Amino acid sequence: MSDPHADPTLSALEILDKKNAEALLGGGQDRIDAQHKKGKLTARERLDLLMDPGSFEEIGKFVMHRSKDFGLDKEYYLGDGVVTGYGTINGRLTYVFSQDFTVLGGSLSETHAEKIVKIMDLAMKNGAPVIGLNDSGGARIQEGVVSLGGYADIFYKNTLASGVVPQLSAIMGPCAGGAVYSPAITDFILMVEDTSYMFVTGPNVVKTVTHETVTSEELGGASTHSTKSGVTHFTAPNEVAIIQQLKQLLSYMPQNCEDTAPVYHYDAQGDELRPELDRIIPDNPNQPYDIREVIHGIIDQDSFMEVHQNFAENIVVGFARLGGRSIGIVGNQPAVLAGVLDINASTKAARFVRFCDSFNIPLLVLEDVPGFLPGTDQEWRGIITNGAKLLYAFCEATVPRITVITRKAYGGAYDVMNSKHIGADMNYAWPTAEIAVMGAKGAAEIIFKREIAAADDPEAKLQEKVDEYQRKFATPYRAAHRGFVDEVILPSQTRQKLIRAFKMLENKVDQLPRKKHGNIPL
Ligand code: HXC
Repeated sequence: MSDPHADPTLSALEILDKKNAEALLGGGQDRIDAQHKKGKLTARERLDLLMDPGSFEEIGKFVMHRSKDFGLDKEYYLGDGVVTGYGTINGRLTYVFSQDFTVLGGSLSETHAEKIVKIMDLAMKNGAPVIGLNDSGGARIQEGVVSLGGYADIFYKNTLASGVVPQLSAIMGPCAGGAVYSPAITDFILMVEDTSYMFVTGPNVVKTVTHETVTSEELGGASTHSTKSGVTHFTAPNEVAIIQQLKQLLSYMPQNCEDTAPVYHYDAQGDELRPELDRIIPDNPNQPYDIREVIHGIIDQDSFMEVHQNFAENIVVGFARLGGRSIGIVGNQPAVLAGVLDINASTKAARFVRFCDSFNIPLLVLEDVPGFLPGTDQEWRGIITNGAKLLYAFCEATVPRITVITRKAYGGAYDVMNSKHIGADMNYAWPTAEIAVMGAKGAAEIIFKREIAAADDPEAKLQEKVDEYQRKFATPYRAAHRGFVDEVILPSQTRQKLIRAFKMLENKVDQLPRKKHGNIPL
């Protein structure tokens, strides 16, 4: 960096011009070219795409690091490897930071961290979301512990901001070591395919410690984290698509926990009844169907944004609009593992439910669940604790909550999936609903065991008892007689009923008992 102050021929205005120009270049043209060669955009190019044109105001453009060791006393870059500020996205105030890989690999120094913390403080005080565009080699190695302290300052702020303002993290390059824990605390992570990765320890350390040979992509690329670990909620083939996803995601959210999500105009005239829904449930109760068809049959056209699309696919979660208003949807997916609840499905849905509840987004639950997944693998890995997370998340949610039982609602899963008993406001069932302690065959085998064994034709007896149990219990009417189901409705009426019921619940006020905080079974 040349020092404009050293040139006595420059006026004060010219010095400012020079400094501004220098800050815009980050680590210099060669490193910008290298960034482009990797198929990556620069920190400022990303912000140009993300923010409404002309709306971005930078904060801390001339901040420099304070390090003197390992040659850093001669290497300064204005802004110190992160562009921070605020602007609007689709007209709504948003705070952003964008790490600049061209400056010392986007590594996080003490001052770099201070800049991020500053905009997080502003975001919390002013009630607006924070978006982080991450592209960093991690802690600035030359700085040592002050850099680690900087990370900890950010983690602390992320935690304080959690549930106050939405926090979104896009991973546009490396994100390794303890650095991963900032995105992990935020509400949603988005990763670019092939050019981004996240891991706590990289392939070299893995090789030394566990003797596994693995590439960065296999260990922590977008595909790994969207399918195996569930760390990332969204992926896209390139940075432009990720930025589009960020904008879409924000459109479902309020600015902060005191606010409600924006309402979009939707002309629902002639779009209240959806006859195609009457034909969705197969005659054979064991035949799968895609719950996404039910979702699309209910919501405003093209309004569904699925979260965690390729992780724990036996449950589908995502945002949508109903009559122009944001809702969060949780639906068992009969097309995958018969829609059973397992560990991953429970934690995936629990986190989503808690996000929606934090930010006043009403919840719609579509239920077709045969129960919890049996087996040693699930039991030994803690389906009890993990299933309890979903139960807990629904129990403490105070947003408007509606359930539609499309088919199966068996056993403990009936209770867990937003039943009336745990605080749902309205519960509907389709005529195809089966609400019982267990499936008819299993039930008959247990309660008529002796009678079946004593029969001349045990097979025929079993079938007779199965049919009897099925007729009595595998319907929505026992639950409706009790008021556990408020109404049995035609599938084609579902959209109309839900629009009206959510409108009725619009001003719902509900509070949890006074406490410091609950103790969710983590
Ligand atoms: C200082 C760094 C740096 C770092 C990269 N650079 N990482 N400078 N601190 N952490 C610099 C490089 O010296 C280089 O400078 C420039 O950034 C680009 O780096 P390259 O290696 O040329 O780029 P590339 O080949 O794309 O590799 C990127 C990389 C690699 C994979 C990120 O740089 C790397 O492995 N860096 C170290 C990662 C790391 O171990 N970080 C600490 C993790 S521990 P020049 O001048 O040549 O352009 C951690 C703890 C956090 O983060 C704990 C929080 C609790």
